[in-house]
Order: sequence, then C-alpha cells, then structure tokens
Amino acid sequence: MDKVIIAIDGFASTGKSTLAKKLSQHLGLRYVDSGALFRGITFWVLKNGWVSDDNLNELAIEKGLDNLNIFFDSVTNILSVNGIDVTEAIRSKEVSAQVSQIAKLSFVRSFLLNQQRQMSLRAGLVMDGRDIGTVVFPNADFKFFFTAKPEVRAQRRLEEMEASGHQANFADVLKNILDRDRIDSQRKISPLKKAADAIEINTSELSLEQAFDLLIAKINTK
Ligand code: DC
Repeated sequence: MDKVIIAIDGFASTGKSTLAKKLSQHLGLRYVDSGALFRGITFWVLKNGWVSDDNLNELAIEKGLDNLNIFFDSVTNILSVNGIDVTEAIRSKEVSAQVSQIAKLSFVRSFLLNQQRQMSLRAGLVMDGRDIGTVVFPNADFKFFFTAKPEVRAQRRLEEMEASGHQANFADVLKNILDRDRIDSQRKISPLKKAADAIEINTSELSLEQAFDLLIAKINTK
C-alpha cells in the first residue's frame, strides 16, 4: 500500500497500539504511536518540575517547547526526547497520571499536530491516538474507533505493565483509565470522539487475532 493513511482512535487500553503495529507490518506501512508523543512531552514536563499537585507551569512549558526535540522512530518505535531514549520511561505511573492534563493544552496540541502531519508527507502510515481520524487526518483512507469494557481494558493494561516490570494494582489501573477517558473526552480541543465515518470495533470479547482479522476484513471490503 502506497501513501495510505489509517487512523486508529479510541479509549485507553483498547488494543489500539498493538493492532496498529500489527496492521502496519502486515501492510508494509510505518507505525506512529501518537500517544507516545504526548507521553514524551509529559515526561519532559515532569523532569523539569513544571507540574506539582496538579499545578501546571504553562508558561514554562510553552516557552520550553521552542527548544524541545521529540522524535518517534516509526521503524524501531523508539521515542527520543532531546536525544535520549525514553521509550520505557514514558510508560510509568507518574506519566500516565499527568498525560491527559498536558494533552489538554492548546499549544502542546498544535506543536504535535504539525509533527504528526509532517510524518505523513513521505509515505503512508498507521497512526493511533484520540483525534487522528477527526483532526490530524480527517481525510484518512481508513478510520477505526476502538472501544472495550473498562474492566477488560484494566486487566489487559495491568498484565502489560507487570510484563514490563512496572508495579501496579487493578483498582489503580482502572481508575487511571477511567480518569483519562473522561478528561480526554471532555476537553475543548480535539476531544476523543468517534469520527462520523469511522468503523467502531469493540475488542472486549475479541482475541488479538480476531480483532486483527476483523480490521483486515473491513479494509478489504471498503
Ligand atoms: O495512547 P496513550 O494511552 O498512550 O495516550 C496517552 C494520552 O495522550 C491519552 O490519555 C491522551 C493523550 N493523547 C491525545 O490527547 N491525543 C492523541 N492523539 C493521543 C494521545
């Protein structure tokens, strides 16, 4: 597939990234995890001490963006912030707890919007996130919107975190997922919502293979 753009949006931990990655490999497209970019900025904000007790130093963040270099390698899936590999660090509880607050900021969104659009100039891609089909690529060739029961999502996320060595418990993970969904859906700019022309995929009862087969079937029949 040449220059094809596939947008995968949806709620937290519905399997978007795993399936977007698998789909990109199958179709020979690049994969971009847009959530990793928002997490990278959040990691950098935390490192600089610009957030404390939900108090954001918006001025410092906005000025700091002028010198921030954030790069998602669509081949290795490594995220670098000012040249440092933060791929693992952006999955921490601290980053998850703050990322939706940072993603609400208009100047953060416009900074990343440019980057995301530029990534599509060279070749086709599969990008997952919250506003890819609605705002970033409203003319995407294929749009999917993922949902799943919150408990199923929390259990999957917990297993993922444990597998990568992060400590967590079910109740905290569930709360974080629901908090992020609420903030992401209610924000003023580019809220999480299904694009009118997106195909909804509920992954609650689907294995990875079943969800993948469904995506391929939808792509082939469009
Ligand atoms: O995909 P993820 O759960 O790693 O994303 C982390 C957060 O980043 C998510 O809760 C909201 C924000 N985000 C966003 O606002 N827009 C996107 N396109 C992707 C992520």
